[in-house]
Amino acid sequence: MKEFNGKTAFITGGGSGIGLGMARVFVDAGMRVVIADIRQDHLDEAMTFFDQPAHVHPMILDVSDRDAMARAAREAENVFGPVHVLCNNAGINIISPLDQAGYEDWDWLLSVNLGGVINGLVTFIPHFREHGQGGHIVNTSSIAGIVAGPGNGIYSATKFAIRGLSESLRYDMAVYGVGVSVLCPGTVATNLHKSEEHRPSVYEGKINETIQEIRSLTGRLFKEVLPTGMDPVEVGKKVLRGIKNNDFYIMPHPEFREEFQESFNEIIAALPDEPLDPVREVHEEKRRSTRREAREKAEKMGRRK
Ligand SMILES: NC(=O)c1ccc[n+]([C@@H]2O[C@H](COP(=O)([O-])OP(=O)(O)OC[C@H]3O[C@@H](n4cnc5c(N)ncnc54)[C@H](O)[C@@H]3O)[C@@H](O)[C@H]2O)c1
Repeated sequence: MKEFNGKTAFITGGGSGIGLGMARVFVDAGMRVVIADIRQDHLDEAMTFFDQPAHVHPMILDVSDRDAMARAAREAENVFGPVHVLCNNAGINIISPLDQAGYEDWDWLLSVNLGGVINGLVTFIPHFREHGQGGHIVNTSSIAGIVAGPGNGIYSATKFAIRGLSESLRYDMAVYGVGVSVLCPGTVATNLHKSEEHRPSVYEGKINETIQEIRSLTGRLFKEVLPTGMDPVEVGKKVLRGIKNNDFYIMPHPEFREEFQESFNEIIAALPDEPLDPVREVHEEKRRSTRREAREKAEKMGRRK
């Protein structure tokens, strides 16, 4: 996508942090933007950042609610017309070591972080197909979707999944002239550390003292680290550039080179040093060439538009 003026974006979790950063940059680029968020206070505060409030439509949305997502898509189209840029960005984080995690922790993060992306895709893909004007989808993963650390397993499970599905999506959407990016930020100065304060009661579970202690300690650590992160508007600018370039990976932070290298070296070193099986190789070569062709199509689309 090269032309942004007058186009429409729909951003989940647009009331705060990275979502709001993207919204501010998109509006400056001439777009109309829907910011959809579960929290009215975030939406109210977000609206104070816009000089042209008529170009922004705030709406309450819980991304884990499929019917609400469908209603939100209809409302967006009624207000601003066809959606060209979809940012599946809403997310939460709790730091809960897997040996302490209960089903409530899993269910909450999976339903918002991964379920929210799935619901956004199932709702909006037919919309992209119908309007036929092309566009771009940005799914927010994380550095935690590439390397996993201690205490972050549930979050990483959702973010690895988003990165994986985004790569397939890139190939599947090229035929409609829709580019796909996966956004993998490191630390960004946002409200993410407050996720736990707004955990719905249905996901509360039985919290014993150990869990309570872990959560308050990690919450405090998180609170100290996040404000040192990148400005969300800088992330928004990098997202806009990534959409323009049709980049699949949008990596706003430079400081992860060594860790990625280490992680991928470990994977490659684990491959057995054995001769290739000729029968399996026939199928593998077919699979490789299908993927190569799909990549070429997705890349060519970016050059053409
Ligand atoms: N901040 C970071 O360091 C960082 C790093 C990597 C990835 N991320 C990812 O960036 C995305 C945005 O988070 P952020 O850091 O800007 O945090 P944030 O808390 O500032 O913003 C997230 C927004 O999502 C909203 N939200 C939460 N649950 C929702 C739901 N069910 N439906 C709709 N909206 C909901 C929140 O109210 C909030 O306004 C998340 O997916 C997060 O995992 C953040």
